[in-house]
Amino acid sequence: MTFTQIKPLVIEILSEKSSVNVRLLRICQLLERELDHHNWVGFYFKNGDKNELKLGPYVGAPTDHTIIPFGKGICGQVAISNKNFVVPDVSAQDNYIACSITVKAEIVIPIFVKGKNIGQIDIDSNTPDPFTDEDERFLEFVCEQVSRIL
Ligand code: SME
Repeated sequence: MTFTQIKPLVIEILSEKSSVNVRLLRICQLLERELDHHNWVGFYFKNGDKNELKLGPYVGAPTDHTIIPFGKGICGQVAISNKNFVVPDVSAQDNYIACSITVKAEIVIPIFVKGKNIGQIDIDSNTPDPFTDEDERFLEFVCEQVSRIL
């Protein structure tokens, strides 16, 4: 499916009556299913008032990294920078937390609620350098829609 085809499905899922976590899981399933280069899709959220991220709904291989301190790894850096982080080649990153040896690339996009960075969507890809500007714009759209139900 194209991003244009997936966008209305994102809106449809988020407007369902199920819990927030069920809806977020369904978003993960949608992206992992419809986009070949999305092999692990998950959400991390700020863990209460601690300076750490906690893993939320995800699809893909189980990860040991259910808690990530701010500043650590790609995710922890985005928690501080408030900026998209596109990693075409994870092996070129010093500050990277490996979840699976199959992963070649990663993209993390922050989620803002009332201007505050409260979490992120994290995508791992088994394909080298797969993420384009279009991916960034699409995932910003997803995060913006998700922020409305948080
Ligand atoms: N690679 C991430 C850790 C999370 S896993 O991709 C699920 C990072 O460096 O922050």
